[in-house]
Amino acid sequence: MKDFLSIHDCPTEFLKELLRISVRLKRFYRYGSSENSLAGKTLAMLFEKPSLRTRISFQVAMTDLGGHVIYVKPEDIGGIGKREPVKDIARVLSRYVDGIMARTFEHSTVTELAKYATVPVINALTDWSHPCQAMADVLTIEEHFDDTKGLKIAFIGDGNNVARSLAFACAKFGMKLTIASPSGYELDKESIEQANHVLAGCACQISDPVEAVKDANIIYTDTWVSMGQENEKQKRIADFKGYQVDEKLVKAAPQSVKIMHCLPAYRGFEISDEVVESPNSIIFDQAENRLHFQRALLKKLMSQIEI
Ligand code: CP
Ligand code: NVA
Repeated sequence: MKDFLSIHDCPTEFLKELLRISVRLKRFYRYGSSENSLAGKTLAMLFEKPSLRTRISFQVAMTDLGGHVIYVKPEDIGGIGKREPVKDIARVLSRYVDGIMARTFEHSTVTELAKYATVPVINALTDWSHPCQAMADVLTIEEHFDDTKGLKIAFIGDGNNVARSLAFACAKFGMKLTIASPSGYELDKESIEQANHVLAGCACQISDPVEAVKDANIIYTDTWVSMGQENEKQKRIADFKGYQVDEKLVKAAPQSVKIMHCLPAYRGFEISDEVVESPNSIIFDQAENRLHFQRALLKKLMSQIEI
Protein backbone atom coordinates (compact mmCIF):
# COMPACT_ATOMS: atom_id res chain seq x y z
CA MET A 1 0.00 0.00 0.00
CA LYS A 2 1.48 3.39 -1.02
CA ASP A 3 -1.34 5.52 0.45
CA PHE A 4 -3.88 5.40 3.26
CA LEU A 5 -7.11 6.86 1.89
CA SER A 6 -9.94 4.54 2.95
CA ILE A 7 -10.17 1.49 5.21
CA HIS A 8 -12.33 -0.15 2.55
CA ASP A 9 -9.39 -0.14 0.09
CA CYS A 10 -6.92 -1.73 2.52
CA PRO A 11 -6.42 -5.48 2.85
CA THR A 12 -7.36 -6.71 6.32
CA GLU A 13 -3.85 -8.10 6.87
CA PHE A 14 -2.33 -4.66 6.19
CA LEU A 15 -4.70 -3.08 8.75
CA LYS A 16 -3.92 -5.79 11.31
CA GLU A 17 -0.21 -5.26 10.79
CA LEU A 18 -0.67 -1.52 11.42
CA LEU A 19 -2.39 -2.33 14.71
CA ARG A 20 0.40 -4.71 15.72
CA ILE A 21 2.99 -1.98 15.02
CA SER A 22 0.82 0.55 16.93
CA VAL A 23 0.78 -1.69 20.01
CA ARG A 24 4.50 -2.38 19.82
CA LEU A 25 5.44 1.28 19.41
CA LYS A 26 2.97 2.38 22.09
CA ARG A 27 4.79 0.15 24.60
CA PHE A 28 8.20 1.19 23.29
CA TYR A 29 7.55 4.93 23.59
CA ARG A 30 5.77 4.62 26.94
CA TYR A 31 9.08 3.78 28.60
CA GLY A 32 10.90 6.74 27.11
CA SER A 33 12.59 4.85 24.30
CA SER A 34 13.04 6.52 20.97
CA GLU A 35 14.08 5.56 17.49
CA ASN A 36 14.87 7.40 14.30
CA SER A 37 13.35 5.42 11.46
CA LEU A 38 12.11 8.63 9.80
CA ALA A 39 15.26 10.68 10.43
CA GLY A 40 15.67 13.29 7.72
CA LYS A 41 12.12 12.72 6.41
CA THR A 42 9.49 15.42 6.11
CA LEU A 43 5.69 15.18 6.12
CA ALA A 44 3.69 18.01 4.52
CA MET A 45 0.38 18.46 6.36
CA LEU A 46 -2.34 20.18 4.30
CA PHE A 47 -5.37 21.34 6.28
CA GLU A 48 -8.50 22.86 4.70
CA LYS A 49 -10.33 22.47 8.04
CA PRO A 50 -9.45 23.01 11.71
CA SER A 51 -7.91 20.29 13.88
CA LEU A 52 -6.57 19.68 17.36
CA ARG A 53 -6.03 15.92 17.57
CA THR A 54 -5.00 15.17 14.00
CA ARG A 55 -2.55 18.04 13.65
CA ILE A 56 -0.83 17.60 16.98
CA SER A 57 -0.77 13.79 17.00
CA PHE A 58 0.71 13.60 13.49
CA GLN A 59 3.32 16.20 14.44
CA VAL A 60 4.24 14.36 17.65
CA ALA A 61 4.36 11.04 15.78
CA MET A 62 6.75 12.43 13.16
CA THR A 63 8.93 13.98 15.90
CA ASP A 64 8.96 10.65 17.78
CA LEU A 65 10.27 8.92 14.66
CA GLY A 66 12.99 11.52 14.12
CA GLY A 67 11.24 13.32 11.25
CA HIS A 68 9.81 16.78 10.63
CA VAL A 69 6.51 18.29 9.52
CA ILE A 70 5.49 21.33 7.52
CA TYR A 71 2.00 22.62 8.32
CA VAL A 72 0.30 24.14 5.29
CA LYS A 73 -2.90 26.18 5.43
CA PRO A 74 -4.71 26.52 2.08
CA GLU A 75 -4.22 30.31 2.11
CA ASP A 76 -0.44 29.79 2.33
CA ILE A 77 -0.49 28.19 -1.12
CA GLY A 78 -3.39 30.14 -2.65
CA GLY A 79 -5.93 27.37 -1.97
CA ILE A 80 -5.72 23.66 -2.76
CA GLY A 81 -6.59 23.37 -6.44
CA LYS A 82 -7.14 27.12 -6.84
CA ARG A 83 -3.77 28.74 -7.53
CA GLU A 84 -2.69 25.58 -9.29
CA PRO A 85 -4.25 22.15 -9.93
CA VAL A 86 -4.16 19.48 -7.22
CA LYS A 87 -2.14 17.24 -9.54
CA ASP A 88 0.61 19.89 -9.77
CA ILE A 89 0.67 20.34 -5.97
CA ALA A 90 1.05 16.56 -5.64
CA ARG A 91 3.96 16.37 -8.08
CA VAL A 92 5.79 19.42 -6.73
CA LEU A 93 5.43 18.33 -3.08
CA SER A 94 6.71 14.88 -4.03
CA ARG A 95 9.99 16.52 -5.10
CA TYR A 96 10.44 18.08 -1.63
CA VAL A 97 8.86 15.87 1.02
CA ASP A 98 8.57 12.18 1.86
CA GLY A 99 4.87 12.07 2.67
CA ILE A 100 1.70 14.15 2.35
CA MET A 101 -1.11 14.20 4.86
CA ALA A 102 -4.28 16.06 3.89
CA ARG A 103 -7.54 17.08 5.54
CA THR A 104 -9.86 18.31 2.82
CA PHE A 105 -13.52 18.94 2.07
CA GLU A 106 -13.77 16.92 -1.15
CA HIS A 107 -12.64 13.30 -0.90
CA SER A 108 -11.56 13.57 -4.55
CA THR A 109 -8.82 16.00 -3.46
CA VAL A 110 -7.01 13.27 -1.50
CA THR A 111 -7.52 10.65 -4.22
CA GLU A 112 -6.16 13.12 -6.80
CA LEU A 113 -3.17 13.90 -4.57
CA ALA A 114 -2.50 10.16 -4.21
CA LYS A 115 -2.83 9.57 -7.95
CA TYR A 116 -0.15 12.12 -8.84
CA ALA A 117 2.12 12.04 -5.78
CA THR A 118 5.08 9.68 -5.84
CA VAL A 119 5.20 9.76 -2.03
CA PRO A 120 2.56 8.30 0.35
CA VAL A 121 -0.67 10.28 0.84
CA ILE A 122 -2.67 9.95 4.06
CA ASN A 123 -6.33 10.89 4.41
CA ALA A 124 -6.59 12.95 7.60
CA LEU A 125 -10.38 13.40 7.19
CA THR A 126 -12.50 14.33 4.22
CA ASP A 127 -16.24 14.98 3.99
CA TRP A 128 -16.50 11.28 3.05
CA SER A 129 -14.28 9.46 5.54
CA HIS A 130 -11.94 9.54 8.53
CA PRO A 131 -9.88 6.33 8.38
CA CYS A 132 -7.18 7.33 10.92
CA GLN A 133 -9.94 7.91 13.46
CA ALA A 134 -11.58 4.54 12.82
CA MET A 135 -8.28 2.67 13.10
CA ALA A 136 -7.45 4.43 16.39
CA ASP A 137 -10.96 3.42 17.48
CA VAL A 138 -10.30 -0.25 16.67
CA LEU A 139 -7.03 -0.06 18.64
CA THR A 140 -8.98 1.40 21.58
CA ILE A 141 -11.68 -1.27 21.35
CA GLU A 142 -9.05 -4.03 21.26
CA GLU A 143 -7.58 -2.60 24.48
CA HIS A 144 -10.93 -2.60 26.29
CA PHE A 145 -12.40 -5.92 25.14
CA ASP A 146 -10.80 -9.37 25.29
CA ASP A 147 -12.39 -10.38 22.02
CA THR A 148 -13.59 -7.89 19.44
CA LYS A 149 -15.25 -10.49 17.18
CA GLY A 150 -19.01 -9.94 17.17
CA LEU A 151 -18.91 -6.81 19.34
CA LYS A 152 -21.93 -4.61 18.82
CA ILE A 153 -21.45 -0.89 18.26
CA ALA A 154 -24.43 1.48 18.23
CA PHE A 155 -23.62 4.69 16.36
CA ILE A 156 -26.17 7.35 17.29
CA GLY A 157 -26.55 10.42 15.09
CA ASP A 158 -25.34 11.57 11.72
CA GLY A 159 -24.43 8.98 9.07
CA ASN A 160 -21.29 10.98 8.34
CA ASN A 161 -17.59 10.52 7.53
CA VAL A 162 -16.85 9.00 10.96
CA ALA A 163 -19.81 6.60 10.75
CA ARG A 164 -18.74 5.48 7.27
CA SER A 165 -15.14 4.71 8.26
CA LEU A 166 -16.42 2.91 11.34
CA ALA A 167 -18.68 0.75 9.14
CA PHE A 168 -15.69 -0.17 6.95
CA ALA A 169 -13.59 -0.91 10.06
CA CYS A 170 -16.34 -3.12 11.53
CA ALA A 171 -16.41 -5.08 8.29
CA LYS A 172 -12.65 -5.70 8.39
CA PHE A 173 -12.48 -6.49 12.12
CA GLY A 174 -15.59 -8.63 12.56
CA MET A 175 -17.73 -6.18 14.54
CA LYS A 176 -21.36 -5.23 14.07
CA LEU A 177 -22.47 -1.63 13.60
CA THR A 178 -26.03 -0.38 14.00
CA ILE A 179 -26.44 3.25 13.00
CA ALA A 180 -29.49 5.09 14.35
CA SER A 181 -30.19 8.37 12.55
CA PRO A 182 -33.15 10.65 11.93
CA SER A 183 -34.69 10.55 8.47
CA GLY A 184 -32.48 12.25 5.89
CA TYR A 185 -29.25 11.74 7.86
CA GLU A 186 -28.71 8.01 7.28
CA LEU A 187 -25.42 6.60 6.02
CA ASP A 188 -25.75 6.12 2.26
CA LYS A 189 -26.92 2.69 1.13
CA GLU A 190 -23.83 2.14 -1.04
CA SER A 191 -21.48 2.40 1.97
CA ILE A 192 -23.66 0.02 3.99
CA GLU A 193 -23.65 -2.41 1.07
CA GLN A 194 -19.87 -2.11 0.66
CA ALA A 195 -19.37 -2.96 4.35
CA ASN A 196 -21.82 -5.84 4.17
CA HIS A 197 -20.13 -7.13 1.05
CA VAL A 198 -16.90 -7.54 3.06
CA LEU A 199 -18.72 -9.06 6.05
CA ALA A 200 -22.36 -10.03 5.63
CA GLY A 201 -24.69 -8.34 8.12
CA CYS A 202 -21.99 -6.20 9.77
CA ALA A 203 -23.68 -2.83 9.14
CA CYS A 204 -27.29 -1.76 9.34
CA GLN A 205 -29.21 1.49 9.49
CA ILE A 206 -32.24 2.06 11.70
CA SER A 207 -33.97 5.12 13.13
CA ASP A 208 -34.59 4.23 16.79
CA PRO A 209 -31.65 5.03 19.13
CA VAL A 210 -33.12 2.94 22.00
CA GLU A 211 -33.39 -0.09 19.73
CA ALA A 212 -29.77 0.48 18.60
CA VAL A 213 -28.29 0.55 22.12
CA LYS A 214 -30.33 -2.18 23.80
CA ASP A 215 -27.71 -4.91 23.34
CA ALA A 216 -24.73 -2.71 22.44
CA ASN A 217 -21.22 -3.16 23.84
CA ILE A 218 -20.30 0.34 22.68
CA ILE A 219 -22.26 3.52 22.06
CA TYR A 220 -20.51 5.88 19.64
CA THR A 221 -21.53 9.36 18.61
CA ASP A 222 -20.15 12.36 16.72
CA THR A 223 -21.18 15.94 16.12
CA TRP A 224 -24.48 16.68 14.37
CA VAL A 225 -22.78 19.54 12.50
CA SER A 226 -19.59 18.50 10.74
CA MET A 227 -16.97 20.96 9.56
CA GLY A 228 -18.34 22.71 6.48
CA GLN A 229 -22.01 22.29 7.54
CA GLU A 230 -22.09 25.32 9.85
CA ASN A 231 -24.81 27.05 7.80
CA GLU A 232 -27.15 24.07 8.45
CA LYS A 233 -26.55 24.21 12.20
CA GLN A 234 -30.03 25.34 13.38
CA LYS A 235 -31.88 22.91 11.12
CA ARG A 236 -29.64 20.03 12.16
CA ILE A 237 -30.04 20.73 15.86
CA ALA A 238 -33.83 20.61 15.37
CA ASP A 239 -33.70 17.48 13.18
CA PHE A 240 -31.48 15.54 15.63
CA LYS A 241 -33.74 16.17 18.63
CA GLY A 242 -34.11 12.88 20.53
CA TYR A 243 -30.72 11.56 19.35
CA GLN A 244 -28.57 12.85 22.21
CA VAL A 245 -26.43 10.25 23.96
CA ASP A 246 -27.53 11.14 27.48
CA GLU A 247 -27.86 9.18 30.72
CA LYS A 248 -31.37 8.04 29.78
CA LEU A 249 -30.18 6.48 26.53
CA VAL A 250 -27.14 4.93 28.24
CA LYS A 251 -29.50 3.34 30.81
CA ALA A 252 -31.27 1.56 27.95
CA ALA A 253 -27.97 -0.21 27.13
CA PRO A 254 -26.22 -2.97 29.13
CA GLN A 255 -24.54 -1.56 32.25
CA SER A 256 -21.04 -2.34 30.96
CA VAL A 257 -21.50 -0.33 27.75
CA LYS A 258 -18.50 1.79 26.71
CA ILE A 259 -18.96 5.29 25.35
CA MET A 260 -16.96 6.53 22.38
CA HIS A 261 -16.75 9.88 20.59
CA CYS A 262 -14.10 10.99 18.10
CA LEU A 263 -14.08 14.53 19.57
CA PRO A 264 -14.55 17.45 19.51
CA ALA A 265 -17.72 16.83 21.57
CA TYR A 266 -20.53 19.38 21.67
CA ARG A 267 -21.91 18.77 25.14
CA GLY A 268 -25.66 19.30 25.38
CA PHE A 269 -26.10 18.43 21.70
CA GLU A 270 -25.03 14.96 20.49
CA ILE A 271 -23.82 13.96 23.98
CA SER A 272 -24.36 15.12 27.55
CA ASP A 273 -21.52 16.27 29.78
CA GLU A 274 -22.38 13.50 32.29
CA VAL A 275 -21.91 10.80 29.67
CA VAL A 276 -18.58 12.25 28.43
CA GLU A 277 -17.34 12.31 32.02
CA SER A 278 -18.86 8.97 33.09
CA PRO A 279 -16.70 5.97 34.08
CA ASN A 280 -17.99 4.15 30.98
CA SER A 281 -16.36 6.71 28.71
CA ILE A 282 -13.23 5.64 26.81
CA ILE A 283 -13.23 8.84 24.77
CA PHE A 284 -9.81 10.09 25.86
CA ASP A 285 -8.21 6.68 25.22
CA GLN A 286 -9.49 7.07 21.67
CA ALA A 287 -7.90 10.51 21.39
CA GLU A 288 -4.59 9.16 22.71
CA ASN A 289 -4.63 6.25 20.29
CA ARG A 290 -4.69 8.63 17.32
CA LEU A 291 -1.01 9.21 18.14
CA HIS A 292 -0.17 5.52 18.50
CA PHE A 293 -1.94 4.44 15.32
CA GLN A 294 -0.57 7.28 13.22
CA ARG A 295 2.99 6.72 14.45
CA ALA A 296 2.69 3.15 13.15
CA LEU A 297 1.11 4.32 9.90
CA LEU A 298 3.85 6.87 9.22
CA LYS A 299 6.56 4.33 9.99
CA LYS A 300 4.97 1.72 7.75
CA LEU A 301 4.35 4.05 4.78
CA MET A 302 7.39 6.32 4.96
CA SER A 303 10.15 4.09 6.25
CA GLN A 304 12.15 1.91 3.90
CA ILE A 305 13.30 -0.16 6.87
CA GLU A 306 11.75 -3.62 7.19
CA ILE A 307 9.44 -3.66 10.23
N1 CP B 1 -11.15 13.59 15.92
C1 CP B 1 -10.43 14.45 15.19
O1 CP B 1 -10.06 14.20 14.04
O2 CP B 1 -10.15 15.62 15.83
P1 CP B 1 -9.52 16.93 15.17
O3 CP B 1 -10.57 17.50 14.24
O4 CP B 1 -9.25 17.86 16.32
O5 CP B 1 -8.29 16.59 14.43
N1 NVA C 1 -17.73 14.51 11.56
C1 NVA C 1 -16.79 15.47 12.10
C2 NVA C 1 -15.60 14.79 12.62
C3 NVA C 1 -14.62 15.69 13.32
C4 NVA C 1 -13.37 14.99 13.75
C5 NVA C 1 -16.43 16.49 11.03
O1 NVA C 1 -16.21 16.09 9.89
O2 NVA C 1 -16.37 17.68 11.35
